[in-house]
Amino acid sequence: MASISFNLKFSPTTAGAAPVSTTAVMSFLPRNPSLSLFCLNSASFHHAPESHTFATRIYQTPVICSSTLRRRPEYIPSHISDPAYVRVFDTTLRDGEQSPGATMTSKEKLDIARELAKLGVDIIEAGFPAASKDDLEAVKMIAAEVGKDVDGEGYVPVICGLARCNKNDINAAWEAVKHAKRPRIHTFIATSEIHMQYKLKKSRDEVIETARTMVRYARSLGCQDVEFSPEDAGRSDREFLYQILGEVIVAGATTLNIPDTVGYTLPSEFGQLIADIKSNTPGIENVIISTHCQNDLGLSTANTIGGVCAGARQVEVTINGIGERAGNASLEEVVMALKCRGEQLLGGLYTGIRTQYIVMASKMVAEYTGLHVQPHKAIVGANAFAHESGIHQDGMLKHKGTYEIIAPEDIGLFRSNESGLVLGKLSGRHALKTRLLELGYDIDGKELDNIFCRFKTVAERKKPQVVWSLGDMQVTCGTLGLSTATIKLIDTNKEEHIACSVGNGPLDSAYKAIDLIVKVPVTLLEYSMSAVTEGIDAIATTRVLIRGEENHTATHALTGETIHRTFSGTGAGMDIVVSSVRAYISALNKLLGFEMPSGPKNHVEESQVSV
Ligand code: KIV
Repeated sequence: MASISFNLKFSPTTAGAAPVSTTAVMSFLPRNPSLSLFCLNSASFHHAPESHTFATRIYQTPVICSSTLRRRPEYIPSHISDPAYVRVFDTTLRDGEQSPGATMTSKEKLDIARELAKLGVDIIEAGFPAASKDDLEAVKMIAAEVGKDVDGEGYVPVICGLARCNKNDINAAWEAVKHAKRPRIHTFIATSEIHMQYKLKKSRDEVIETARTMVRYARSLGCQDVEFSPEDAGRSDREFLYQILGEVIVAGATTLNIPDTVGYTLPSEFGQLIADIKSNTPGIENVIISTHCQNDLGLSTANTIGGVCAGARQVEVTINGIGERAGNASLEEVVMALKCRGEQLLGGLYTGIRTQYIVMASKMVAEYTGLHVQPHKAIVGANAFAHESGIHQDGMLKHKGTYEIIAPEDIGLFRSNESGLVLGKLSGRHALKTRLLELGYDIDGKELDNIFCRFKTVAERKKPQVVWSLGDMQVTCGTLGLSTATIKLIDTNKEEHIACSVGNGPLDSAYKAIDLIVKVPVTLLEYSMSAVTEGIDAIATTRVLIRGEENHTATHALTGETIHRTFSGTGAGMDIVVSSVRAYISALNKLLGFEMPSGPKNHVEESQVSV
C-alpha cells in the first residue's frame, strides 16, 4: 500500500491542532469583482460598493480607529493646500519590482496601475524607463491609459518615471511619462560618503553640480513636476544634504525625497533628519518633503510615520511592503496607521486612499509577483483578523473592539462568519455556543457541556480522517494531444480504485480522474502554488480551496442565510502535479469528514476501474 504524507496546513496559531470549523482564516472574502482573477470560480464573491469617499465604516468608541471624511486637495506639484494631507507615492511597480524574483509583465503592471488608481494613490512610480525597452514601454502604456483616466471628481494619479542623474535616463523617463495628464520625473544621485567614494567616484562638488544640472535639464524638457532624491540620505552628512537640497530647489525640484536607502535609521533619528532638513534647507517651504524608508531593520513603517510627524507630506510605499532586499514601508500599514491614529495623535493627518480596495490590491500584487504575504503580516495577513484563543474569542463576542482596532470591511475584507472566530483546541464554551447559534442550534446547559467535550476531543486530534489516499499516478501532457491522467486511490479498506481521464492540461485530467473515483461533486474555488526551496529540484506546496455542491451547507441562526462550507487542502512534492493532486485529495478528505461527523461513512463503492 502506498503511503501518503499530508501536509496539513491549519491555522498557524493552532499549533498542530485541527480546527473544527472551516471558517478559519479562509472565511474572509474580498469583495471585488476583479478578484475572480485569482479564483477559479468566483460565484461566492460580491461586489464592493463603489464609493468615492475617502473614509469607510470604522468602529465607534471604544474602538480606537477613527477617520474623517475629507476631500483630496487639488494637485499642485510643489504645494498642498491642506497642511494635514499626506500624499501617497506608490512605488510597487519600481522599487517593488526590484524584489528578487518579482518581475512582472507589462500587462500585469498595467493591471496593478489600474488597481492603484482605484485605491486612490496620488503618484504611481510606474518604472525605471532607461532600464530596458520593456520598462519604457510599460511606463508609457500606464501613462497613456491610467495617467489619462480622470474620474468624476477630477482625480487622476501622477505617473512618475525614475531616472539617474544623466541625460539619457531623464530623456527616457520623460519619453515614457510625458503623455500622462500629470507627468513626473524622479531623479536621484547618491550623497553618502561611502556611495560617492566607492560607487560614483565623485567629489561632493561634482555630485552637487550633476544634481543641479540634471534637475534643470528635466525641467527644460517641459516637465513641471520633478522629484529629487539624495540616495542614502539616511547615512549622508547633514550639512552636505542641506546644501545639495537647496541647490536642486533653485534648479526647479518640486519634491525632495529623503531615502533611508539601506534601512539604517531608527524612527526618532529619521524623524529628526526630516525635521533638520525642514529647518535648515534654504527654500524648503516651496517644495514637498517625502520619505522613502527601506525595511532592513524592520522599521520602515515606523520611520515613515516618524518622518510624517516631522513634516514630510509625501510617503513612498509599496503594496505588501515589497521592494529591494527586506522591502519598503508598506502602503497598507502606513495608510491604516494614519487613518487609525491620525485624528487623535497626529494632528489630523490623512491620506486620499480608498482603503476598501486594500485587500484587492494586496492579493493582486502577491499573485503577480509571486511574493506571498506572511499570515501574521499587519493589515493584509490571513490571520490579521482571526481570533483563536478562548479569552480573545470571548472578548470579540462581547465587543469586537476588544481585540480589533480596525473593522475588516474598511480594508475590503468581509467575513462569512460574523464573529471572525477560528474554532480550535484553545476555544472556549462561549465561542462554541456562538458558532452553534450561527449554524442554527441554540444549545445550553448539559447539552452544551457534552458537545463542548466532544468538540475538544476533535479539536485536539492532529489530523482529520483520511478517507482517500494517493496510491499511484501517471500523467501525460504536452503539445501533441490531450493530457491524460491515470490515478490510483486507496480507500479506508485498503482497496485500490483506478480511474483515467483526459483534460485540458495535467491538473485538469488528474482532478477529473479523482472525481471519477470519489464521486462527490465539488467546485474548485482557489488554487495556488509556491516553491518552498530553491532551484530546479524545488519542493512545491500547493493549496486548494473547494466547495461541496451537496449537503455542505448550514443555516445561519440569525439571518437565515445558507452558508456554503469550503474546505482547504495542501500538498507538497517535487513534482508539481503530484503536489497538486495531494492538495486536492487532502481537501476532499476534509469535505468527506465534514459529511461524516461521527467518522467517515463508507464512501467507497465497489472496486472499480472507471474511464
Ligand atoms: O532606496 C532608494 O534610495 C531609492 C531611491 C531611488 C529613491 O529607491
